[in-house]
Formats: sequence, structure tokens, C-alpha cells
Amino acid sequence: MNTINPQAQELNEIIEATNPYVLNMLSEKGKNIFFPKKGILAQSADAKGKEINATIGIALEEDGSPLSLDCISKLISLDKNNAFPYAPSYGRPDIRKTWKKMIYEKNPGLGSICISDPVVTNALTHGLSICGYLFGNDGDNIHISDLYWGNYRLIFNNGYGINFVTYSTFSGEGLDIDAFRKALLEGEPTKRIVSLNFPNNPTGYTPTESEMQQMTSILIESAEAGNNIVALIDDAYFGLVYEDGIAKESIFTYLANAHQRILAVKIDGATKEDYVWGFRVGFLTFAVKNGTPLLYSALEAKTAGAIRGNISNSSNLSQSLLNSAFCSDDYVSQKKEKFNTLQNRYEVIKRILETHPEYKEAFSPLPFNSGYFMCLTAKNADAEAVRQKLLEEFSTGIIVANDVLRIAFSSTPTNLLEKLFNNIYLAIKSIQN
Ligand SMILES: Cc1ncc(COP(=O)(O)O)c(C=O)c1O
Repeated sequence: MNTINPQAQELNEIIEATNPYVLNMLSEKGKNIFFPKKGILAQSADAKGKEINATIGIALEEDGSPLSLDCISKLISLDKNNAFPYAPSYGRPDIRKTWKKMIYEKNPGLGSICISDPVVTNALTHGLSICGYLFGNDGDNIHISDLYWGNYRLIFNNGYGINFVTYSTFSGEGLDIDAFRKALLEGEPTKRIVSLNFPNNPTGYTPTESEMQQMTSILIESAEAGNNIVALIDDAYFGLVYEDGIAKESIFTYLANAHQRILAVKIDGATKEDYVWGFRVGFLTFAVKNGTPLLYSALEAKTAGAIRGNISNSSNLSQSLLNSAFCSDDYVSQKKEKFNTLQNRYEVIKRILETHPEYKEAFSPLPFNSGYFMCLTAKNADAEAVRQKLLEEFSTGIIVANDVLRIAFSSTPTNLLEKLFNNIYLAIKSIQN
């Protein structure tokens, strides 16, 4: 790597002055990145408001509005200026402000804890990848429970050479807290990247409030032992919790002010929460005990720099559409309506499992209480063989990963749930050893 750019150095010094542990958490790439304040962006800013501004890298009509094709603009009722030009690499200021307000509203436990402004990513996969860029060196480890979203491998391992160190997800009906404790406390103090994803893909599990407290205590204990912890909090399915007593707030709330050696990184977005999978709008938000706006502005600048050098910026059209949806009067009630659809499917599945004791001969459900999915383990039958049987003889598709069957009730109409579980039962029975 070349010698460090003075703009990156300046950000590192700001970070170090407030919290040296956070500087230690950054990867080599993370230490070197900065959001260029000089060059093209600075020169464009200088030209703002001038009679002739020949700096901007987009095309304008003779009247100064964005030049556009009618066959596209006629489909968009938003102001052209909110759709066609580039959005800033940080994201549109309006949606960043709205989302931040929403994070506080959805997580009242945050109270007045100071968190960063969210930086807009091209949805969560990109946000996770940017975390790999900022925090992961080749050969670093990530602690993750053994049931996780498969794409993490491409993002962290293929993308940044980060090794997976797994611990068991469940013990009985809840989380394997002992395994989590062991993962976070064994070995010499070091930087530790920890992945936390609730509601979880694939299991559909969110910790109980007490489990979340216990995880928080373990993370604090680990920080007190000298570990510098980057907690990557993937909140893709945030808000879809269907039972009482299950944590309704993100673990980000618990960690935001927990310890100076714990950097909580919230990776969230509209994809699953707001049912806009193809819009590609997500956010990265940081919090650490005693974090200051200056520290956060340095982390935001590094994030925006990584984005600038990677995708440049996220879709302006999608950000504008979502910001106006978030500010609309109908947003909350419409969101509740769709939540009810998913919750109802969850309740129906619980009922199906309760009313069919014979299913216990064929499979056991893993703990689930939230999100888009639930998982089953097949008894005396190979999971992949079950999947093949379901495809071939029952016209039914499910996912198999890590030897468990993952059922996406998010995408199964309620009236087909009964049949789905019956098909699984029959398929397993037909191939049981
Ligand atoms: C746990 C988890 N995180 C992140 C994502 C990716 O979301 P996005 O489509 O916003 O990239 C998914 C999508 O399946 C997911 O299950």
C-alpha cells in the first residue's frame, strides 16, 4: 500500500483522539480510506451558484433541468431532480435524517445515546461488504453462529479473506449462550469481529430479552478482557417479531453505549422491513460508548469514501421514493397490515405443528419466533434427499443448508401452509432410514 493519504491520516487522528480502540478495529483498507474533500467534488462545490457551472458530470437540458428521455420520465411522478441526478455517496440528506429518526423511534431504549448519521448503502449485502472493507484484514476471524445466511461466505470470506469461526446456535429451546461466551472469551485479547443477525436467517429466531441481556453482558466481559469488538448487527428483518418476551429492539440498542471497546455497527435497510427487495437501499450506522459527532463524522467519511470507490452512490430514485413513503401518513398503518399477514402465517404454522403430533416422527422444528423463515431438521433422512423428493414428487421447493430444511413462510400463501407441511411429512416418511 502507498503511504497514507493526508486526508485519511486526518480521519485516523480524529478517531484515535476520541477512541484509539476504534482505530485498532479498522482494517488496513479502513485506515487508508477517506472521502475526498479535494479534487472533483471540491471543485464542483466551489462552482455552486455560479452563472455558468460547467463542472457537473451529468447532462442538463437548456433550461438547466436534468436532461432525460421522455419514455423514462413519464413513468416517474417524482420531481426529476430527485430521481435522475446522482445522490451523494453518503446518501440523500433527507432519507439519512428520516432513517435516523426512525432508528430512535423503533429502538426507544436508545434514549438520547449519540449515534452516527446513517450512511446509505446499496442495500444490506453492500453494507455488509463495506463492513468487510472497513474492518476485515485477510486472515481475520469472524465469530458467527453455525446457522447463518450463506451469502456471508461470499461477502466476508471470498471478498476479504475473513475466516469463519462458528459456535453452536441453539441449546434446547433457546440460544447456546455458553457457546457464545466461549467464542467471545477464549484466547488472547485481540480484535474480534462478531456477526449478530436477529431475526435470523435461516432460523427465524430472535433472542428473548433475557438472552439479549446475557449476550450483551458477555460482549462487555470480553471487552473488559481487552478484546476490541466490532459487532456487525445485521438487522435485515428488524421489526418482524411475533411473540411477547422476545427482544423487540435491536441488539444495537444494547451495545450502543456498552463499552469503549465495542463498536456497534448497524446494517439495516428497507429491503425486507419495507418489502422493497429490488430497490437496493440500506444503511450503515455506528455507535460506541462516549462516541462523539466528530468521531462519527470520521467513520461516516471513511464509509462514504469506501462507497465512492466502489459503487460511487446508491439509487437516487429509490432513496427519494422511500423517503416520501416514510414521511407519508399511511406508512405506519400499511406496514402494520403487512406485518399482520406475516404474523398470521407464523400463527398458522404454530397451529399446524401443534395439531399434528405425527409430524414429530418425521421432523423437529428449530426454535423460531420472528422474521421470514423457520427451519426443520429431518429425522432419519438426509436433508438434501428430502428436498429432491419434495421437488420430484410433491411439486414443493424448500432450501437446504447446513443439513436443515428452511421454509420461507414469507413467500408461501397461508392457504398452502397446511399442504406444505404435510408434503414435507410425507416426503420424509417415504425415505426414512
Ligand atoms: C440476514 C440477511 N442479511 C442481509 C440480506 C441482504 O439483503 P439485501 O437484499 O438488502 O442486500 C439478506 C437477504 O436475504 C439476509 O437474509
